Amino acid sequence: MVNRRSFLKTSLAGCAATLLPKFSLAKTTDGVLELTAQKGQARLYGEDGGLSDLWLYNGKLPGPEIRVKRGERVRVRFRNQLDEPTSVHWHGIRIDNAMDGVAGLTQAPVEPGESFDYDFIAPDAGTYWYHAHTMSWNQVPRGLAGPLIVEEDEQLFDLERDITLMLSDWRLDEDGTLETASFGAMHDFSHAGRLGNWLTINGVSMPEIPLQQGRWHRIRLINSSASRVLDLAPSRFGAKVIALDGQPFETPRDMDGTLQLAPAQRMDLVMRPGETGDIPFETMTGKPFTFATFKVGDGKGDDLPLKQPAINRLPEPDLEAAWEIPLLMAGGAMGGMRSMMDGRTREELNQMMQDGLFWVLNGKAGMGDEPMFKASRGDTILIESRNDTAFAHAMHLHGHHFRVLERNGKNLEHPDWRDTFTTVPEETVKIAFVADNPGKWLLHCHMLGHAASGMTTWFEVA
Ligand code: C2O
Ligand code: CU
Repeated sequence: MVNRRSFLKTSLAGCAATLLPKFSLAKTTDGVLELTAQKGQARLYGEDGGLSDLWLYNGKLPGPEIRVKRGERVRVRFRNQLDEPTSVHWHGIRIDNAMDGVAGLTQAPVEPGESFDYDFIAPDAGTYWYHAHTMSWNQVPRGLAGPLIVEEDEQLFDLERDITLMLSDWRLDEDGTLETASFGAMHDFSHAGRLGNWLTINGVSMPEIPLQQGRWHRIRLINSSASRVLDLAPSRFGAKVIALDGQPFETPRDMDGTLQLAPAQRMDLVMRPGETGDIPFETMTGKPFTFATFKVGDGKGDDLPLKQPAINRLPEPDLEAAWEIPLLMAGGAMGGMRSMMDGRTREELNQMMQDGLFWVLNGKAGMGDEPMFKASRGDTILIESRNDTAFAHAMHLHGHHFRVLERNGKNLEHPDWRDTFTTVPEETVKIAFVADNPGKWLLHCHMLGHAASGMTTWFEVA
């Protein structure tokens, strides 16, 4: 993260803290939520920054919070009022394939002026989000993202103390508005992706987040950034982790040190502040940088006892019978291109780069006509990934959650469920899941420029 000092080349004064705004809720008519992608504006750099031209859901940054109960039917009438096609993906939901929102794979893109009805069941409680899934490298970092919260059967936290924080990284110009000239820059695609120089929480710069002394809070973190991996240290403000990517642990965990929240990942925290006062919320990349402040005020009402959300019933992989699939990530700048040479001539490689393809999965750049594998419903798939590139990646599997079993040949103490896993250069990671959801599903890097320049493949469950 470029911090405020290095970002400020002009004379922008420090911006005043803003109270965290309440999420708007999606409007409903007869139980159908109305969601419209449209142009809009927001101040990303506080009062002193200019107004940025953005693409928003219902004119809001982030999009409205959609909250449903576990097992509830979600009906969304989606309208596209942008000048380009789009579609909506419900990230992390084990969804009906036809509702997955992947233009070109599960549906036709929604053209300007057109609409599409999404209709699905949210089977698992937890913290999820939705975002554009057509040219997402361009649409998500212009604002097309919002939270999707699936509540447990039983209400565990007072609603005022159940707080969603969508963390977004922006590349701002010197006047504090969204920098747009570099969208789609090949340099970003072939390196770490489009990284920003400023962070907002729920669309606001440096917010104050009100908490209550002596009361349990649930804090739901969502990283909606195009490429930025956030280094966070919940233990520095006394929080425990209770869930990752929507899936709760058996018990809350004290996790010391720095935890990574990669693009698309979620982390649910619980905390009960002991005293009133200010607590900084920092990113830990380089020097700790405070990008929000928890303002602890007096406790109100009863403190609900801390209860761990119930485990979602996900199908358990059968490792004995697993089908092993290698996933070799190669390509990218800083020496990674060499690893793409395999089976290619220099001319072919040059042609790929001219076509904006810098990354391969198992030697292939992009989707292709054939799936990476075809599973029968119920097969356990064990993916052994190896990162032969010079960059970190955040790999997302659609329609399923998987257990992360091993890193570099070592069994993990907690083989947590996730829908997006991170991997650093030279690392091997083993994940396993039951392919129980029929349809065509993506597996791609959630660093959106990487996904657009080769790191996207798909598989089919028959
Ligand atoms: Cu969150 Cu294929 O995306
Ligand atoms: Cu990547």
